Amino acid sequence: MLRLRPNRRPSAADLRSLFDGIDGSFLYHGAIDCPLYPRICTLSKSIVFSVPPYGRNEYFSGRDDVLETLFRELNDRSTNHYTRRITLHGLPGIGKTQIALEYAYEHRDDYAYVFWISGADRARLLSGFGEIASRTVGCHLSERPEDVAKRVLQWLQETEDWLLIIDNLDNMTVVDACLPDSENGHTIITTRSPNICGIPSISLPVVEMSHENSIKFLLLRLGNPEATENVREGAAQIVDALHRLPLAIDHAGAYIWRTKNVFEYLANFHACRQESLLDLTVSSIHNRTVATTWKLSFARLSPAAAKLLEYLAFMNPDEIVIDYLRAGATVLPLTLQTALKDPAQWRGLVQSLEVLWNCRFAGFGTRVCI
Ligand SMILES: Nc1ncnc2c1ncn2[C@@H]1O[C@H](COP(=O)(O)OP(=O)(O)O)[C@@H](O)[C@H]1O
Ligand SMILES: [Mg+2]
Repeated sequence: MLRLRPNRRPSAADLRSLFDGIDGSFLYHGAIDCPLYPRICTLSKSIVFSVPPYGRNEYFSGRDDVLETLFRELNDRSTNHYTRRITLHGLPGIGKTQIALEYAYEHRDDYAYVFWISGADRARLLSGFGEIASRTVGCHLSERPEDVAKRVLQWLQETEDWLLIIDNLDNMTVVDACLPDSENGHTIITTRSPNICGIPSISLPVVEMSHENSIKFLLLRLGNPEATENVREGAAQIVDALHRLPLAIDHAGAYIWRTKNVFEYLANFHACRQESLLDLTVSSIHNRTVATTWKLSFARLSPAAAKLLEYLAFMNPDEIVIDYLRAGATVLPLTLQTALKDPAQWRGLVQSLEVLWNCRFAGFGTRVCI
């Protein structure tokens, strides 16, 4: 039985207890407006779940240790209050965003609100707070984004059971005065910056995947989790050559899925790697590994698809609105202008980027993440 305390909004647990036992399907899929608390009572298990346009990663593998640590540290009430804020840091492509995403999906039922915003720059951060406001406290078009963010922070201070993920926060000044400072919820930050001392939080390094999990991931990516011993051995050699870097394994997986030949990939990779080693502009081992897998995949794209990828890479990794490209089509190369006008050609380009490059298209092809 739900007991509402005066002057206090019901917590997610209160709301769940109200609906537990009434009708499970209603609880999970239904939405009602509660006259007492109209703003927060649109009910599903997670009242608001706002993750990036791409869904849960069906190939997600391993990382049990990091996911467990995240859960333990975020829920540990015995130590200092920064345990409510965790920073995942590590090299680009190591898997920070995927871990945060998996955590959000795995624990969505533990929270009333799950919010995902980009910390790539101040404009995106504020736009993320605007999105949260539109789902919670409301906002007016005339309001300054900084003021909207302040109201959201105030709301987070007063509200329980939320998870806020700030992805790609590589420059700490972006969140100046915009970090929730409350014990009512959890904040997960992902950053590639090793210099995270500016943010009081538990710091959790993300390193390469384990040998076993890397093989598991590659075989899963190839749709062949029960591979023969021979193929498994080939996969083991590939993940080792790729230094067990998930981004590189994913690219290799997309390529092999197309060619259906694990062993050919290894030979091509080593040949292409020799060239990369000569390229002094590519510094670290990890960058060289990714550069090599990219070169191989890039070579298989049609000129138009390669051009499209080049343009997308200069825009935004999170979400690019295709209409934005259309609006500026006149400055694009002719091949892209033609493709944007011809649905069949456009579908072809999109498919090759999805298959070979693992770009994710969302919103019925209206947005793309690279
Ligand atoms: N645990 C994982 N299981 C499966 N794929 C993963 C995993 N971690 C990362 N990846 C793959 O590697 C790519 C890069 O990971 P991402 O989390 O975006 O890296 P980061 O945020 O550290 O730059 C993802 O797009 C995904 O394809
Ligand atoms: Mg990331």
